[in-house]
Amino acid sequence: MNYVAPTDWSPLSWRTRLQAQQIVYPDRGAVERVVEQLHRLPPLVTSFEIEKLKGQIAQAQQGKRFLLQGGDCAEQISDCRPEAIAAKLKILLQMSLVLVYGLKMPVVRVGRLAGQYAKPRSSPTETRPDAEDPSRTVTLPSYFGDLVNEAGFSAEARRPDPARMLEGYKHAGLTLNFVRSLLEAGFADLHHPEYWDLGFMRHAGLPGDLREQYRAITRSVSEGLRFMEAVGETSVDQMARAELFTSHEGLNLLYESALTRTVPRREGYYNLSTHLPWIGDRTRNLDGAHVEYFRGIRNPIGVKVGKGCEAGELVALLRTLNPQREAGRMVLIARLGVHEVTKRLPGLIEAVRASAAEVGPVLWVCDPMHGNPVTTSGGIKTRSFDHILAELIASWEIHRSVGSRLGGVHLELTGEDVTECLGGRGGEQAGGLKEQDLARNYASPCDPRLNYEQSMELAFALAQRMNGGERSAEGKEGVGSRGPVPGTEG
Ligand code: PEP
Ligand code: CO
Repeated sequence: MNYVAPTDWSPLSWRTRLQAQQIVYPDRGAVERVVEQLHRLPPLVTSFEIEKLKGQIAQAQQGKRFLLQGGDCAEQISDCRPEAIAAKLKILLQMSLVLVYGLKMPVVRVGRLAGQYAKPRSSPTETRPDAEDPSRTVTLPSYFGDLVNEAGFSAEARRPDPARMLEGYKHAGLTLNFVRSLLEAGFADLHHPEYWDLGFMRHAGLPGDLREQYRAITRSVSEGLRFMEAVGETSVDQMARAELFTSHEGLNLLYESALTRTVPRREGYYNLSTHLPWIGDRTRNLDGAHVEYFRGIRNPIGVKVGKGCEAGELVALLRTLNPQREAGRMVLIARLGVHEVTKRLPGLIEAVRASAAEVGPVLWVCDPMHGNPVTTSGGIKTRSFDHILAELIASWEIHRSVGSRLGGVHLELTGEDVTECLGGRGGEQAGGLKEQDLARNYASPCDPRLNYEQSMELAFALAQRMNGGERSAEGKEGVGSRGPVPGTEG
């Protein structure tokens, strides 16, 4: 397409707009010095990769690919470890293999990875009992992610520090470097999906039938590839190489704009900190700073669509964010919650479809995590596997029933053996995680993630349903049968 860069936009034009979730740094001079430094540093991704992803999203918009986007709620700098990165990569690869096999179409893999360091919060402050005097409370700034401050509950830890933007940039670069090296070295070669096994998979409680199904898939994928090679298919090498793109919420606009650049021989500006930045549900105000920033970059962009988003508002957002109706540009990530999805999603789909000539194509993705918060009686923030799966399946069915198509899924997950979400069939004594199990390894500083088994179970259930099948008998109790009911959003 012939892109025409907007003349009333610059990487800093967002500064004239009201900024939701704005970080207040005590030392403005230090912020400017950091931004200056970021400006001079090399990009983390290239415009070539970004355009490639845009092309793949455009195909997904036509129903020819499916998007799998997943990773931590909040990536942590302390988690920039080879084991954690490899485990995330492996779970995304394993899930994508199940989906490719079930859907019979290529999957676009996008990690919430290499830069998912900034978090919007419901409240700018957090209050806890005073450790020294329990009759009093202490109020401090909330934790806004490692790009901004530290998770520890002390005044020192919670002070926003601009130097953390440089730390975030560097750790995103280290993560990406490792991911690229692994992929380049054939770590994700489809000839050997058996190598994608996670170390603990053998003793993890993945139900035997799912484990057997996965083995059968990996066997048949590698046999298929070998057959194609044997008959002289030359494109196999390219096909067998798995790709992974990166994404994060573009929350801290100082950081995002410092990494927004022009590149030779292309029109306009690219955010070169990530392939697919998204606008969070709390920062998508039409007149706000985030929408102003995002409208001018050339990346494909995600928009979170929560239950507070009216159909007219969504259409107006699309008009502003994609005025040239570019294919592959818009990814709508609905996170409505299992109790609202049936009521709200059809109207949103219809409004976008009715305005298609004006707003261009979109990719509808379901984020079944953020609309389904649950708080246990003990006050632990969790989510139920059943709610997550039920919203996902409901979204699939709703799209199908109105002649639209669910084009992807957005998940908070990890390849590690954490205990943060309730339910699933694997895990503790293979009966799924219960309230009392959550304390064993609750490692997220923010929202609860699906663990390895829960992620794989979800991939199998989705692949099966999208292939026309029903969910297996064990999962048929329906929504809310285990654990507490969803509470208010946190
Ligand atoms: C998130 O994806 O972690 C998040 C905060 O999402 P949302 O903007 O949908 O609440
Ligand atoms: Co989250």
